[in-house]
Amino acid sequence: MRAFLAIEMPDDIAADLRRLQADLPLRRPVARDNLHLTLVFLGDQPEARLAGLHDLLGGLGAPGVAIDFAGLDMFGGNRPRQVFATVRPDPGLVALQARLTRVAHSSGIAPERRRFVPHVTLGRDKPAGPDLARLRQAVAGLSGWRAGGFVARSVTLFQSTLAPAGARHAPLANYPLTG
Ligand code: 2AM
Repeated sequence: MRAFLAIEMPDDIAADLRRLQADLPLRRPVARDNLHLTLVFLGDQPEARLAGLHDLLGGLGAPGVAIDFAGLDMFGGNRPRQVFATVRPDPGLVALQARLTRVAHSSGIAPERRRFVPHVTLGRDKPAGPDLARLRQAVAGLSGWRAGGFVARSVTLFQSTLAPAGARHAPLANYPLTG
């Protein structure tokens, strides 16, 4: 099963992000239910291994983490493929991500060793020519964008199903951040 750990967006923040999406020329805006901050992408895993991870995460006892947004950016360098809202790398958030990575390792999962760039993806697309120029201009124009922050009180384990119309994510379990 393809799975990942993420922080879900509360409704008020999701509404801000939806407004932001509407201000951008995105051909494939991410749906409300797919707006999240990925902490650890687990990849395709046998269910037994995810069950082991689930047991370990039940006793996580980590504290809530501050989620603050600051501006917009794109992944992909000269050929952008993804527009996202940047999340400040708060030390608590970075520590949580590192801890979840260690817990994943303890349950036999070796997540990709990408540098953690906290973000919420707003759209996936590979525009070219005038479309790309328009997107770059819109992203630059909104670089001062800020959303009210929030304190995340739980982490969610998601199942991700790939489909031609885009991946669908379903929450499987929640782990409170109440330490
Ligand atoms: P993204 O928002 O930057 O695309 C489910 O695919 C989630 O896991 C997405 O939110 C995606 O982040 C994240 N993810 C991280 N690494 C991934 C990978 N190698 N393949 C697919 N998704 C990945």
